[in-house]
Amino acid sequence: MSQINVTRSSMPTFEEYCEEIKELWDSRWLTNMGAKHKQLEANLLEYLHADHVKLYVNGHLALENILAGMSLPKGGEVITTPFTFASTTHAIVRSGLVPVMCDINPQNYTIDVNQIEELITDKTVAIVPVHVYGNLCDVERIDEIAKKHGLKIIYDAAHAFAVKYNGVSSAMFGDASMFSFHATKVFHSIEGGAVFYRDDSLGKKLDELKNFGLAGQETVAWVGGNAKMNEFAAAMGICNLRHLDGEIEKRRKVFERYHKNLDGVQGLKLAQVQEGVQPNYAYYPVVFDGYKYNRDQVFEMLKGANIVARKYFYPLVNSFDCYKEYAFYGSEKTPVAKYISDRVLTLPMYADLCETDVDRICEIILGKSTAD
Ligand SMILES: Cc1ncc(COP(=O)(O)O)c(C=O)c1O
Repeated sequence: MSQINVTRSSMPTFEEYCEEIKELWDSRWLTNMGAKHKQLEANLLEYLHADHVKLYVNGHLALENILAGMSLPKGGEVITTPFTFASTTHAIVRSGLVPVMCDINPQNYTIDVNQIEELITDKTVAIVPVHVYGNLCDVERIDEIAKKHGLKIIYDAAHAFAVKYNGVSSAMFGDASMFSFHATKVFHSIEGGAVFYRDDSLGKKLDELKNFGLAGQETVAWVGGNAKMNEFAAAMGICNLRHLDGEIEKRRKVFERYHKNLDGVQGLKLAQVQEGVQPNYAYYPVVFDGYKYNRDQVFEMLKGANIVARKYFYPLVNSFDCYKEYAFYGSEKTPVAKYISDRVLTLPMYADLCETDVDRICEIILGKSTAD
């Protein structure tokens, strides 16, 4: 049996992509905010009904750029969670800021809003919550807390492209939101990322920061890096955006098939759609809690059948070796995150995953088959 991976990139037809990139052979303008880059920005603003966007070579540098763009004072504390991809914490640390780890809630694995205020000190400058698996954080409560304490909110929305809450796009919450357009994401530009932001006056600085800090041909205003999205990536984004609604609809069917097979099984906590949220079905996390097999056993059973699931997010960021010397090190300080991290497995999830394969995966999990 051929391998089933945890994810598989959506792609336009070869012909559609070739048509999109054709004019690059005439223009010979391959990067540095060319026509495709501008077109993708415009299309994204229209699709998400958002106000301001900047595109990046990836989501990670988008996050670093927005942290720099907001001129947060070096050494400032940033409240965030350890149940995330390495990128979130790395971006904070690499920006000269100090992560302060807040635990997550056990319902949807996003930041526990009831624990944020006790972590605020006179050094706190921002909150960087993560919309884990595309589950939205409690954006209203976070907004209240940030306003009360004068803090910036920058969402790591890497997983949450096209998710809406009460009809409002996830791009519109907080002061800014970072999205990843990595090939494994619901919407992608091969590699890529974006920042959606509220304050129009940030735009110029963000443009400069991603282009070595250049403010003109003879002026260098910032110690910037290189984080520009190239034209081929933007063209892939333009094509993929045309088909995104259809791809999300296909994901919904996969999600529902998993639910049909696994719902009601004792000891399994399945992915849930939140109230008021229009989801993007980015991931299908299952928490194995008191089930006849533990997470690691299920992982191995699937692996034995050539099916790749992912312990996502395990290990927790606050147990990474590179953070041993940091004050936030220690997964025991965030017990809910640790509990979930030890038990969660994200199952294969992509638009083209067929019903038969979902059924086969579920049969293995249920111990009905060792399929080969
Ligand atoms: C939660 C989270 N934050 C940040 C990133 C970084 O995005 P990118 O891979 O586009 O740099 C990812 C990517 O997988 C992610 O999952």
